[in-house]
Amino acid sequence: MTGGRAGGYAARETMRALAILVAAGRGERMGADEPKAFLPVAGEPMLLRAARAFDAAPSVEGLVAVVPADRIGAAREMLAGVRSLRDVVGGGERRQDSVLAGLQSVPAGFDGVILVHDAARPLVEVPLIEAVVRAADEIGAALPVLGLVDTVKRVRDDRVVETLDRDALGAAQTPQGFRVAVLHRAYKLAFRDGVNLTDEAMAVERLGEPVVAVQGSARNRKLTTPEDLAWAEALLRRRPE
Ligand code: CTP
Ligand code: MG
Repeated sequence: MTGGRAGGYAARETMRALAILVAAGRGERMGADEPKAFLPVAGEPMLLRAARAFDAAPSVEGLVAVVPADRIGAAREMLAGVRSLRDVVGGGERRQDSVLAGLQSVPAGFDGVILVHDAARPLVEVPLIEAVVRAADEIGAALPVLGLVDTVKRVRDDRVVETLDRDALGAAQTPQGFRVAVLHRAYKLAFRDGVNLTDEAMAVERLGEPVVAVQGSARNRKLTTPEDLAWAEALLRRRPE
């Protein structure tokens, strides 16, 4: 972290953040017997690894885990040592339903930043979390975006239509951070309008409100397939934390 700017923000009450870890997906592309977030990465379940990162972030004062309904007890046990854990709740059919379930556990008077994070990104690191909280606190909404390495094509019926300008594109990651009022407003309208959200920022974008892109991180990759899991384990063997 650089300069006095970070310190200045850190002293503010509004820096307080509450994290919702969504872990209620089935993990179909992983093809395991267990829900994905419960699979170990180098000996530690994804959800616990992600939770420990948020627990270590100075601005995070509370954490809510959203898990499959039949795993609430198991998740409570798994997360017993996570100091900032406030609640473990059951998720919903779509990711946005799981986020909504997590939002219901946010205390009524909370006026800080809500972070929504995929438990499937267990290698997230504290500086990224803090950067998102700062930008969200300042502007209202923020997410990490990672530049693309591949050339990107628009394809229709197996035919390449065009090559897109890669420099203008980026991949959205989590944690995505929002002032609580911004997320509530955006989610309310998205549900009212029946929108399928692929991330939370999308709900804010459609209101025309500003969303800041902070620098994403290759290490913060979403673990989707068995190959991703192997990649994460190799990385942790080389660079443990
Ligand atoms: N998620 C969730 N509730 C859902 C769907 C997804 O909490 N109904 C969570 C997942 O647990 C994951 C994150 O959202 O941490 C990102 O989703 P994804 O990587 O797609 O995970 P899954 O939906 O579990 O995997 P798949 O799509 O392969 O089934
Ligand atoms: Mg999914």
